[in-house]
Amino acid sequence: MATMESLIGLINKIQRACTVLGDHGGEGLSLWEALPSVAVVGGQSSGKSSVLESVVGRDFLPRGSGIVTRRPLVLQLHKTESGGEYAEFLHAPKKRFTDFAAVRKEIADETDRITGKTKQISNIPIHLSIYSPHVVNLTLIDLPGLTKVAVEGQQDSIVEDIENMVRSYVEKPNCIILAISPANQDIATSDAIKLAREVDPTGERTFGVLTKLDLMDKGTNAADVLEGRAYRLQHPWVGIVNRSQADINKNVDMIVARRKEREYFETSPDYGHLASKMGSEFLAKLLSKHLELVIRQRIPSIIALINKTIDELNAELDRIGRPIAADGGAQLYMILELCRAFDRIFKEHLD
Ligand code: GDP
Ligand code: NA
Ligand code: MG
Repeated sequence: MATMESLIGLINKIQRACTVLGDHGGEGLSLWEALPSVAVVGGQSSGKSSVLESVVGRDFLPRGSGIVTRRPLVLQLHKTESGGEYAEFLHAPKKRFTDFAAVRKEIADETDRITGKTKQISNIPIHLSIYSPHVVNLTLIDLPGLTKVAVEGQQDSIVEDIENMVRSYVEKPNCIILAISPANQDIATSDAIKLAREVDPTGERTFGVLTKLDLMDKGTNAADVLEGRAYRLQHPWVGIVNRSQADINKNVDMIVARRKEREYFETSPDYGHLASKMGSEFLAKLLSKHLELVIRQRIPSIIALINKTIDELNAELDRIGRPIAADGGAQLYMILELCRAFDRIFKEHLD
């Protein structure tokens, strides 16, 4: 029997297959929507992209002040047994990226390709896969930051457009919400918590993440938030210290940043007692564990959906006439085979 980790790996593969299928006929979308993923939600510059990078343990996202993330980024992490790390984009499937600075540039270029170098946003996602022995199997979605006002060159509707886009991801019952709030702002005004509370009132699929603990005013601390007294969620709050803009400018290495983060908590007079449950590495493990649990609960309904997809694919193949040599047909056959394989594997997990 495969491990739960490899089960999440399978889910990642299905999600990719469904994306291809979605391009084809749109029929794959229902399956895609049944699979769990983690969406990162928060106000502009709250540290969303930084948290994602920390979870991945790699520098590869455009980051900075202002609205940098302007298209959803669907990021699939695939844990490999050994070997080097590399990345692949769905829009450039034959190109293997080993230079993560080039990944960042490709995300920026691909964002501009659709939004035309303006500060506009687009709800067409960019799909990126990272293969590495150092990640946990996880699908993460980076989203544009919630904002209160349009800036120069943006339409007034952008505030609402972003909120609607983010909501379209987080309102799905299978979406795990990573609600990012900066510790140097009042938690009562957090855009992330506000939206999370709206779409997940019981807090069962919301993980509260508090960034910028290092930037709090001297003499204040966030223990009341981190210990769940200020705003109660079903899951424990996780405090994070990402790299500052100065660190980014100095190219402070991710490994060094993680070590500094760990030291920050271990030596903190305010959070030392919470140290083992803080930081990006802990967050990554917590998320992976939760995802496994959710998947286990969903296996029966996923099997049902896979079978529905198999039926739909068979109908589609009947409609276009088989056997066929055309590319499209070959792709459908491949996906059909994939679905059958998944069906077998999932059924094994039911025992
Ligand atoms: P996003 O807009 O929510 O994706 O936020 P980014 O990840 O792009 O971060 C915005 C800015 O805040 C960047 O300059 C980061 O370096 C900085 N930042 C994010 N998290 C932290 C943190 O925990 N501590 C400090 N000092 N700076 C942070
Ligand atoms: Na930003
Ligand atoms: Mg961002």
